[in-house]
Amino acid sequence: MTKIVSLCKRRGFIYPGSEIYGGLANSWDYGPLGVELKNNIKQLWWKKFVQSRDDMVGIDSALIMNPKVWEASGHLKNFQDLLIECPKCNARFRADQLPYDLDKKGDWLCTNCHKGILTDPRQFNLMFKIFIGPAEEKTNEAYLRPETAQGMFVDFKNILDTTRLNLPFGIAQIGKAFRNEITPGNFIFRLREFEMMEIEYFIAEKEWEKWFEYWQKQMINWIKELGVNTQKIHEIEIPENERAHYSKRTIDFEYEFPFGQKELYGLAYRTDFDLKNHEKSSGQNLKYKDPETGEEFWPHVIEPTWGVDRSVLVVLLEAYHEEKERIVLKLPPKLAPYKAAVFPLLANKPDLVKLARKIYDGLRQDFMTAFDDRGNIGKRYYSQDEIGTPFCITVDFESLENDDVTVRDRDTMKQERIKIKNLPEYLSGKF
Ligand code: GAP
Repeated sequence: MTKIVSLCKRRGFIYPGSEIYGGLANSWDYGPLGVELKNNIKQLWWKKFVQSRDDMVGIDSALIMNPKVWEASGHLKNFQDLLIECPKCNARFRADQLPYDLDKKGDWLCTNCHKGILTDPRQFNLMFKIFIGPAEEKTNEAYLRPETAQGMFVDFKNILDTTRLNLPFGIAQIGKAFRNEITPGNFIFRLREFEMMEIEYFIAEKEWEKWFEYWQKQMINWIKELGVNTQKIHEIEIPENERAHYSKRTIDFEYEFPFGQKELYGLAYRTDFDLKNHEKSSGQNLKYKDPETGEEFWPHVIEPTWGVDRSVLVVLLEAYHEEKERIVLKLPPKLAPYKAAVFPLLANKPDLVKLARKIYDGLRQDFMTAFDDRGNIGKRYYSQDEIGTPFCITVDFESLENDDVTVRDRDTMKQERIKIKNLPEYLSGKF
């Protein structure tokens, strides 16, 4: 982890948030390369699960919703963690992070300072409270959304009215969520502000098991697309007493992170819990009418959910390799921030620089491309390997005569001569 965090900072993937002020409670900013990697992950997801499918539509709903949403969804009452504190060193813990059976009474010793006796657990709501408008009064209270899912339920009626979707169908959304986590940490693993990619997949109740299994497979397919070794993924059935308040079945996809096996993604059977409660609370009819039988009912919901930041983290962890003389990020080419880098062999030969610039300007219309004429070729390769650029293109003296260039493959380090005019086709083929 230390090596990944350091590479991320050094090369502009991820910086500590508000660093010039000493940072802020495990917040992180995505830099120029990090934002490309993150956007590539989100675009791949959107293409796969929304644009390539007939049964899916996307939305982008507001971050701040009517507070009644969180009452109806059960988050005001149930979205809590058990907080335990040490009066001596002021360390804070979530109950599930302590090696104690807290149901039993006892004087539990602080695992941080080993001196203080821990307080009794108390419920702590994870939603961030804010005020709408200038007056900080109870009536103006609202919340930053802790999940994107509620946007899909609250817009359900509008979507039924404005599309021609019939069951089964899904609504997808990518966006920020906020949780006042007691113990954020492990770099971008547990954040207070993070991004999610979520699908609410609406089905007939009797088919829930079939669709649950279907999405379980889709989630594994996605994990493979990220280049993650599925040997390190464990599908964990979550027992009833640990499931979220809305879920009748949950599987967590856990990954063997360097800091332990922890949740990467989740899959839940939310039943008709949300639509039913929003209908009760809003007074609006949120039922679906079967076009053939005319029967009206609340569809049931299978919810696959993916953390964007955790996706970035596993992709980096899986891609990071140390070889004899180089550090290389073996990112899947479609996720790499730069797809190619163009170098003139020598920076002080105007003909080489001119041709390299021309190739660079052409390629960057279709591929995120870097240009580098600093130092020697070896250093430039080293620099591109470290950020995962799959192909380095060198313009040399032969290029001026034969209209071809050397293309070097990041992973095999093999080089081949490619005609300049064939470069776009060559690169497209690789992605
Ligand atoms: N709507 C369902 C839901 O919110 P969740 O398991 O609480 O489910 C979904 O969150 C995903 O969001 C997780 O699987 C994880 O990838 C990511 N996630 C949750 N809390 C996070 C946090 N504090 N920081 C970063 N990612 C987080």
